[in-house]
Amino acid sequence: MRSGKQRSRKSRIKEEELITEQYRTIGTNIQFITGTNRNNIILVTSPGKEEGKSATAANIALSLAQQGNKVLLIDANFRFPEQHEIFNILNIFGFTDVLDEKITFERAITKVQGIHILTSGTVPLSLSTQEAEKFFNKVKSEYSMVIIDSSPLLEINDTRILANISDGVVLVFKQNETSMENALESKRILQYAQANVLGAVLN
Ligand SMILES: Nc1ncnc2c1ncn2[C@@H]1O[C@H](COP(=O)(O)OP(=O)(O)O)[C@@H](O)[C@H]1O
Ligand SMILES: [Mg+2]
Repeated sequence: MRSGKQRSRKSRIKEEELITEQYRTIGTNIQFITGTNRNNIILVTSPGKEEGKSATAANIALSLAQQGNKVLLIDANFRFPEQHEIFNILNIFGFTDVLDEKITFERAITKVQGIHILTSGTVPLSLSTQEAEKFFNKVKSEYSMVIIDSSPLLEINDTRILANISDGVVLVFKQNETSMENALESKRILQYAQANVLGAVLN
């Protein structure tokens, strides 16, 4: 009984080390591509719902900030936004309101835990490539890293647009749940969007 408990605690510690190592590796890859120029827009996505996109995006943003980067975290999942809940902040104005020019970007951001967060906003919209490009061209020079949380890649077209305009993509898969077929389909979509896949997180 006791040895069983000890084993499970040990394996849990191992698992935590692995997760920490994953974030560190991704952080290193992100900083590598952003080291020489301003390629600093990073999209976090996954094939489907509830595979850990939001948790991963929040963790990457926090770990990059801890390493001294000025970080912006954007919630671009307009249908099921989560970052305001993760960070316990309000989502009255956000990304959609800035795109609709209802509020300025500067007024819409919330500063919390060493990062700047742009919540989703409350009125969903379909993203256009043109407005996304205009927005990201403006914000990218103001931050060392911009992390985007997103909708499921296989379900919502916005995410393909974001994959195309971002400088790197982190793909999240959920262990024992994401099917091989969906994982491969996601890879194919990202190739088609000419996205630069920085790494996969097995959540
Ligand atoms: N590594 C993890 N450890 C524990 N819980 C997690 C982890 N990743 C995600 N979760 C939980 O699983 C659920 C789905 O994760 P979430 O990040 O919201 O997925 P998505 O954004 O892809 O829908 C949430 O309740 C979240 O708190
Ligand atoms: Mg989410």
